[in-house]
Amino acid sequence: MSNSTTTATTTATRMFSSDNAAGASPEIVDAVVRAAAGQASPYGSDTVTAEVRRRLCEIFERDVDVLIVSTGTAANALSLAALTPPWGSVLCHRDSHINNDECGAPEFYTAGAKLVPLGGDDAKIDAAELRAAVRNKAGDVHSVEPSVVSVTQATETGAVYTLDELRTLGSVVKEPGLRFHMDGARFAGAVAALGATPAELTWRAGVDLLSFGATKNGTMTAEAIVVFDRSLTAELSFRAKRAGQLASKARFHAAQLDAYLTDDLWLRNATHANAMAARLQDGLKAIPEVDLLGAAEANIVFCRLPQQVIDSLLSEGYVFYHDRWEPGVVRLVASFATSPQDIDDLLDAVRRHTA
Ligand SMILES: Cc1ncc(COP(=O)(O)O)c(C=O)c1O
Repeated sequence: MSNSTTTATTTATRMFSSDNAAGASPEIVDAVVRAAAGQASPYGSDTVTAEVRRRLCEIFERDVDVLIVSTGTAANALSLAALTPPWGSVLCHRDSHINNDECGAPEFYTAGAKLVPLGGDDAKIDAAELRAAVRNKAGDVHSVEPSVVSVTQATETGAVYTLDELRTLGSVVKEPGLRFHMDGARFAGAVAALGATPAELTWRAGVDLLSFGATKNGTMTAEAIVVFDRSLTAELSFRAKRAGQLASKARFHAAQLDAYLTDDLWLRNATHANAMAARLQDGLKAIPEVDLLGAAEANIVFCRLPQQVIDSLLSEGYVFYHDRWEPGVVRLVASFATSPQDIDDLLDAVRRHTA
């Protein structure tokens, strides 16, 4: 088994396949080292886990509950399981991670709920399509029951839902009584791009549960489910334990998130990653042989390159996804650890190979 990039570890800064190719922020590594000293209560009853919850209450401007898990897939699948019955449907974008990249975990953890993929530009769910889907065959025992809508913020193509778009979707979701989930694997990038508050972008727009991503933006192995509808907390806690997502030494996960949330590291990292993607986008725009596909509003750039440029970059050791879409379409992802020099080197390489 393999993925289509590489399994090797490399110190080269030519890996633009994903933001999870980056390491971890030094502040986070230091926090884990500090957490290794002494004893702490297990299974999330330690003081650092409590501090993470306190910080998230502050950031989201209300009481929230928090479940720390080790992967974004677990955060998504467990959240969806708490929001739909097995006979329900999960309305999502056809390009969403839950629909394409989670090996059926949402279907498995929901005990068989059906994912219903919808369209829309830039991997954002089209509001008109959603308006029809939330009522489609509702109450008909011959069909699955529309139960939850899941949006990804920032999206899989590097776009962000604006605050107005989220509010519109939120009202479409809530009016017939569905639940609202947000896959925030790159939530920090969206907050940094929009300048709107975390509260406005989530619960104030109707979001019940947020998969609060961190691993792509500086942590090692820690993600969180942020629970706005706290009536779901007990069920989620049982589900997380049953899924093997309640770490006995949870303090190590908590230490990562605590450092991530301290002094706005999460926003500083995301702001940097977005700036690096913008630098790349601006540089590519000036190369006539390159077609930019959509706007990179967060840290992901999609473009079309001539095949010989793709081949030359690969042979120079660059790593990126290039064989998942139409021929010539590539995805380049910047991260908190990408330097301006990394971007300029990549741009030089593209220029050289298109010359
Ligand atoms: C949009 C999105 N959601 C969720 C995830 C979670 O992934 P993982 O389970 O690999 O942490 C990813 C990772 O690529 C992602 O891009």
